[in-house]
Amino acid sequence: MINFVRPDIAEMEPYTPIVPFEVLSARLGREPADIVKLDANENPYGPSPKVVEALGNGRFYHIYPDPESNQLREALSEFTGVPKARLMAGAGADELIDLVLRVVLSPGDVVVDCPPSFGMYPFSTAVNAGQYVAVPRKDDFSLDIEKIEATVTRHNAKILILCSPNNPDGSLISDDDLRRLLALPVLVVLDEAYVDFVGVLNRKAREERKDKQEKNFAPSASFAVSHLNWVMEYDNLAVLRTFSKLAGLAGLRVGYGAFPEWLLPHMWKIKQPYNINVAASLAALAALQDRDWLADKVALIVQERERMAAELAQFDWLQPYPSHSNFVLFRVLGRDARQLKLDLEQRGVLVRYFNKPGLDNCIRISAGKPEETDRLVAAMKEIGD
Ligand SMILES: Cc1ncc(COP(=O)(O)O)c(C=O)c1O
Repeated sequence: MINFVRPDIAEMEPYTPIVPFEVLSARLGREPADIVKLDANENPYGPSPKVVEALGNGRFYHIYPDPESNQLREALSEFTGVPKARLMAGAGADELIDLVLRVVLSPGDVVVDCPPSFGMYPFSTAVNAGQYVAVPRKDDFSLDIEKIEATVTRHNAKILILCSPNNPDGSLISDDDLRRLLALPVLVVLDEAYVDFVGVLNRKAREERKDKQEKNFAPSASFAVSHLNWVMEYDNLAVLRTFSKLAGLAGLRVGYGAFPEWLLPHMWKIKQPYNINVAASLAALAALQDRDWLADKVALIVQERERMAAELAQFDWLQPYPSHSNFVLFRVLGRDARQLKLDLEQRGVLVRYFNKPGLDNCIRISAGKPEETDRLVAAMKEIGD
């Protein structure tokens, strides 16, 4: 029998896909509206009304999209302060992770990653025939900087992937550590999918800053903490961001990144021409026009993250880790985290369960709307001791 599958792909473990919402809804015998979905770090508020309106008014869905996403990149340049020429949009940050690895890696080239972190890094490395080398994080999820330096050097690594805030714990990489790692002869890919939830100001503080006409003011305050503009300073840095978490557009798949000048022409060369579809582009543009709405929702999510952690502190079998993102990681003590996840699921509350090195017996819970936190806390109480 013919089998021309690449041997390394034939041997790969499949990526565990999420169970579609409709399937889950049928399995649990609950309407989607009755499910509290806190398992995938999505934005519970969904897109802004301006996005919905723009999608309704779209007139060119029958025409192929602009392969260069010019309008969107212009708007992103204004939003981030990074020149348009240094920006590329992708079908989610996921596509950009794959694209960078595809351009850079020859078979066997080393990618260094610091697990526990986002599962797409080892996955995309394997798909692109790279060699994945892990430098595990310390117990508090901070990076082992010396070990990263030694590993990058020993393996002559091509790519170092960093995630800040890190998924699944929500910890940040300090600027000092980042600068130190950028001194290595390696392309650093910094994934900032959750950066919009760092250092979030409440509405009053935002208004005050706006009144003062502060330079570089961005309503979500994220630009102040994002490292996107560092690509202008370091030619071995790529920074990725997304509309999935900030703007509630996970289902439409729009992300973007800033990249080194030497890399971009080759990324453009091999990118699928129509990677950003017309609806995704319209939605992202409209979202960027509704920044106060985005900022309000981000502030609400951060507020709810804090409330969720505080409410769950009443259960001494849940040990939370401090988070700068839109989720909180809990270590489950003295009981089975998988069973807890299943018990919550029976009550219509979905959380993410982990049991792997560095994450044994853990659950990660995304911040939801206030009523969703209430349902979560009530379900936890019911499950009780
Ligand atoms: C760290 C991290 N990066 C990237 C992504 C994917 O982003 P996108 O939806 O833009 O592909 C996720 C999604 O959960 C994530 O956790």
